[in-house]
Amino acid sequence: MMRDSARKVLEGIREEFKLSAADMNKMIRDFRREMDRGLRGRKSSLKMLPSYVTKPTGNEKGAFLAIDLGGTNLRVAEVELKGAGKEIAYRSKSFILKDKLISGSSGKFFDAIAEHLRRFIGRRDIGAGIPMKLGFTFSFPVRQDSLRSGRLICWTKGFSVKGVKGKDVVKLLEEALKRKGLGGIRVSALMNDTVGTLAARSYSDSSCEVGVVIGTGTNACYYDKRLGTIINIEWGNFNRMKRALYDRLLDENSGNPGEQLLEKSVSGMYLGEIVRLIICDLASRGYLFRRFSSTALIKKNVLKAEDISRMEEPGEKGLANADKVLRRYGMMNSTIGERSLVRQLCRIVSRRAARISSAGIIAVLKKIDPVFSRSHTVAIDGSVFEKHPNFAKEMRSGIKDVLGVRSEKVKIVLSKNGSALGAGVAAAISQSHSL
Ligand code: GLC
Repeated sequence: MMRDSARKVLEGIREEFKLSAADMNKMIRDFRREMDRGLRGRKSSLKMLPSYVTKPTGNEKGAFLAIDLGGTNLRVAEVELKGAGKEIAYRSKSFILKDKLISGSSGKFFDAIAEHLRRFIGRRDIGAGIPMKLGFTFSFPVRQDSLRSGRLICWTKGFSVKGVKGKDVVKLLEEALKRKGLGGIRVSALMNDTVGTLAARSYSDSSCEVGVVIGTGTNACYYDKRLGTIINIEWGNFNRMKRALYDRLLDENSGNPGEQLLEKSVSGMYLGEIVRLIICDLASRGYLFRRFSSTALIKKNVLKAEDISRMEEPGEKGLANADKVLRRYGMMNSTIGERSLVRQLCRIVSRRAARISSAGIIAVLKKIDPVFSRSHTVAIDGSVFEKHPNFAKEMRSGIKDVLGVRSEKVKIVLSKNGSALGAGVAAAISQSHSL
């Protein structure tokens, strides 16, 4: 049973993290303003980067290699498009990128990527058994001046490879491919993961004009009809939101203070850390785990988004998972009251994350179609959206809170592996344009 004092503290936290429909509407207005400022090249927290990728027609065909880089895993793939909007065939292999690599030198980093591709290709011949064209999904803010070139503006999500900022990442990759004897492969499209997600879904669904990723990081893009290209919003950097004390704490102790503020409230890289900061605060004030002297939870970033997802499983399963997670951190005999308090904290934090994402999506849809004159599919990829037990549900309910009956016009769908598949689609679009 939860003590009255603990209940009060929990209510305080709930209030701090609450995002009411009115808060969401305010965020939507601010977001739209920032989008417009960004598009006009004025100072804005939203970079609004042209991608040089248009929407596919569904008739594109061909086989392509793909590299998907930007989360915890690096993925290499072979993607085959059969035209007529048919399902895209693909096979892929994932590799974990070690911490040493993502904070090391540019040469070593791109060599490692090229080496993984070389192993994936194995003994097959480029051109004969293996496609020569490659789509490169590079999920960081990049200023592109063509479909196949783009300079890194800044790293996000804890990456800090040296010597890449300001450089053309396609060149860096192609140089590394050459060093590995893969000089015959040409990067024919560079894109953000959100752009890949949108391209992959819209290959078979023309009502899809928005792509979102909610995984290690978070971001969105949309097809701008007037500009004739997909715009990468880089919404993770949006900074006009209601923030809680714990958000400030997290930001101050992060590698990029003041940046990526929306991402720090929403994405998988940070969700566990927000919950951990609350738990530590409540423990230090005597509301939680008074009988334990565990120092494990004092370590930054130990609580992962997967832990949050597991603890939020419904009913007994979630409670049992909470016990397992807490045991891992030395809290061997937590009470049911404590476990349920921790689960509620998870719920509060992930619910807010989902509602922030909903507000972002509504703002983007209003930009495309202010009066919701037609139906829209929003393609979403990323581990948080895919694996968290309540996230999609909370997002739908957030959309309904703001849009009411008009929410029926908005379909949010999982576009699994969209970022990798989209690399193939974008490479195919570039090919059909150059025919
Ligand atoms: C970060 C990156 C962005 C990417 C997102 C999701 O926000 O800056 O480019 O799309 O993570 O991976």
